[in-house]
Amino acid sequence: SDLEKFITALPKAELHLHLEGSLEPELMMELATKNNIELPYQTIDEIRKAYDFSNLQDFLDIYYQGMNVLQGEEDFYALTMAYLEKVSGEGVVHAEVFYDPQGHTSRGVPFAEVTNGILRALDDGREKYGVSSELIMSFLRHLSEEEAFATLREAEPWFDGRIIGVGLDSSELGHPPSKFQRVFAAAREMDLLLVAHAGEEGPAAYVREAVELLKVDRLDHGNRTLEDTALTETLAQSGMTFTVCPLSNLKLCGVPDMKEHPLRRMMDAGLKVTVNSDDPAYFGGYMTANFLSVAQPLDLSKEDIAQLCRNSIAGSFLTEEEKSVHI
Ligand code: ADE
Ligand code: ZN
Repeated sequence: SDLEKFITALPKAELHLHLEGSLEPELMMELATKNNIELPYQTIDEIRKAYDFSNLQDFLDIYYQGMNVLQGEEDFYALTMAYLEKVSGEGVVHAEVFYDPQGHTSRGVPFAEVTNGILRALDDGREKYGVSSELIMSFLRHLSEEEAFATLREAEPWFDGRIIGVGLDSSELGHPPSKFQRVFAAAREMDLLLVAHAGEEGPAAYVREAVELLKVDRLDHGNRTLEDTALTETLAQSGMTFTVCPLSNLKLCGVPDMKEHPLRRMMDAGLKVTVNSDDPAYFGGYMTANFLSVAQPLDLSKEDIAQLCRNSIAGSFLTEEEKSVHI
C-alpha cells in the first residue's frame, strides 16, 4: 500500500528488540534439528498456533522454551543476521538490541559464545546491510539481585564499547525496579547506559522507580505512565524517550483493541514516543507492521508517523553527529 511504502521509506531506529524474540519458527525448527533439542511442536503451524497469549507471563513461558534451541556461537550469529536482514528492508538504519544472557548461561551456554556470536553478526550486518547497531544486556528481573550482579561481573570484559548498556526485562509484576537499584548504580559507575522495562503490565509507580531509583536513560514500554499525571508532566519536561511496542501490547492483552492503545495519548501528553517490535517473531510483525497496526486505529497522520521515526533517531544512543546523518 501507499502508507506501507511511506513508512518503509522513512529512516528509523529500532530501540526495543529482544534478539531472542526475533527467533522465527523456521529457524527454531532448523536449530532444534541441528542441536538435537526436543520441541513440543511437530510443525511450523503448530508453533504459530501456540502463540496465543493472555498476558506477559504466558508469552515468557513460550519465549524461554523457544530460546533453548540456541546453543552455540553460530546459532546466535544466525539469529542476529536474520533480524538485521529483515529490518534493513524496512528502513531501519540503526538498531539498539537487547539480549538475555541469563536465559543462556543458566542452560550452560557460555556468556562469551552468546555475546561474541551476536557481536560478530552486528559487525557483519553493518557491512552487509548498512544497519548500525549497539548491544544492550538485559537482566532477568524474576531472578535475584545477586544473579544480576554475577552477570554484570561476567560481562565486564565487554564493557569497552561492545556492550553499551544494561536493561531490565521479564516478569514485571512483583519485581519492581527497586529490586535492582544497587545493580543499576554499579552499572552507572561503570559508565554504562541504562534502560528498563516499566509500566508494561506494572503500575505507574514502577515507571517512577525506574526513573528515580534506577535513573534510566530511556524507558521501555511505559504505557501506564499516563495514570500518573505529575510523572507524565515530569517526563515530558525531561524529554524521556519511550520505546512503545504496539503489536506486543495487543498480543499480550495490555490493550483490548488498537483503538484503545495509549500511543497517541502519550504523544499528545508531550512524551517522546517511538514505535518498536519487541519480539517480532512472536507478536506478528517487525517495524513496518507495528507502524501499520496503529496508523489507522489511532488516526495517525503521515506527519505523526514521520515524527515517531525522528523520535527514534533522536532517542537513540548515537552521537549528535551520527544522528544528524539520519534526521
Ligand atoms: N522479554 C522479552 N520480551 C519482553 C517483554 N515485552 N516484556 C518483558 N520481558 C520481555
Ligand atoms: Zn521488551
